[in-house]
Amino acid sequence: MGIGQEVVARCCQLAKHTEEPGWITRTFLSELMHCVHADLRAWMEQAGMSVHVDAAGNLRGYYGGTRADAPKLIVGSHLDTVPHAGAFDGILGVVLGVALVKSLGGRRLGFGIEVVGSSEEEGVRFGFPFIGSRALVGSLDDTLLTRRDAGGTSVADAIRAFGLNPEAVGEARVTGATLGYLEFHIEQGPVLESLNLPLGVVTSIAGQSRLEVMFEGKANHAGTTPMHLRRDALAGAAEWIGAVERETAATPSLVATVGKIEAQPGAGNVIAGSVRMSLDVRHTKDAVRAEAVKSLLDSAQQIAAQRGLVTSSELRLDQAAVAMDAQLIEMLGCAVRESGYTDHRMHSGAGHDAMVMAERMPAAMLFLRSPGGISHHPDEAVLEADVEAALATGLRFVHQLERAHG
Ligand code: GLV
Ligand code: MN
Ligand code: MN
Repeated sequence: MGIGQEVVARCCQLAKHTEEPGWITRTFLSELMHCVHADLRAWMEQAGMSVHVDAAGNLRGYYGGTRADAPKLIVGSHLDTVPHAGAFDGILGVVLGVALVKSLGGRRLGFGIEVVGSSEEEGVRFGFPFIGSRALVGSLDDTLLTRRDAGGTSVADAIRAFGLNPEAVGEARVTGATLGYLEFHIEQGPVLESLNLPLGVVTSIAGQSRLEVMFEGKANHAGTTPMHLRRDALAGAAEWIGAVERETAATPSLVATVGKIEAQPGAGNVIAGSVRMSLDVRHTKDAVRAEAVKSLLDSAQQIAAQRGLVTSSELRLDQAAVAMDAQLIEMLGCAVRESGYTDHRMHSGAGHDAMVMAERMPAAMLFLRSPGGISHHPDEAVLEADVEAALATGLRFVHQLERAHG
């Protein structure tokens, strides 16, 4: 089996470990993550790595360098998924990291390589992303550990239930000299495909705001309450969702999404008394994003006031846009060209562990074309030839790093 074929087959094998039969769904430290770790651990050990799971649930395989005190390069991405996901978002970056080490064929470098499968990036279970990479940079603080999921389980309890010790989360922090962080990831958009290119070098990652927005009205009988005497929270929310779409479309490159909505009490013959929604807003310029969030919340206030409703919001995430490291971008671009591909530079609209890792070390990302531009969907795919292109680039990148630091 060729290496591209093997990487794709391994991603598909990991996709079988799912919380929902018939779909791919794997949230932070669900029971199934043990199976993902077991498969990856075996592949890492076969490639010559020593493996452990840190207290935040990140799977970490280390391939030592020629010297015990050698610095290291971290290659990683995430192992959790959105609900009803595809097989490659995050997982491909980890499996490709293992393939990169395997391709060294046992040869040791002047630096070590740590392949990290981060435990959580999507923010599905706790409404808050990057739990795994926050632990790696040492910013998973006690407040975050007390956050609760929909079932009332805290992050600390979830860590405990997985057999780990939340009090040791501080020990997950990356220590020692680190050359940088490299993340392979599917593009999750249509740009590379439209240009007929297999690879893209990421220059920056858009900032994101995530909020919960609530509308409160009055639940009442659906048959007896005349239309003009209602305080329908769901009708207010619907009007606002339309406004989010309309207002966002008026600003170039701004995107905003209401992806989740819950109405209470949630019966066909009861006017909804309260609604809770998610709001996700992204732009490469933080000032534009901040202004958009303010203006969308103002619109919610206006709509609520006109309908006799009350609206409120809770900020879940305010993640600034992040530039990738200029030197690593150049090295990666050069590695792409040396491997015989076009060195296309692009920004990322999706969030990635790299934006958190960049707080502590130089970070770089290589995108692989997404067939059909589809992601966060079961149809998500990657071409074996593109996987081989990414791997060839990764190997050249590693050799350049060795020339610079070996
Ligand atoms: C991660 O997939 C994101 O929401 O950008
Ligand atoms: Mn994702
Ligand atoms: Mn991802």
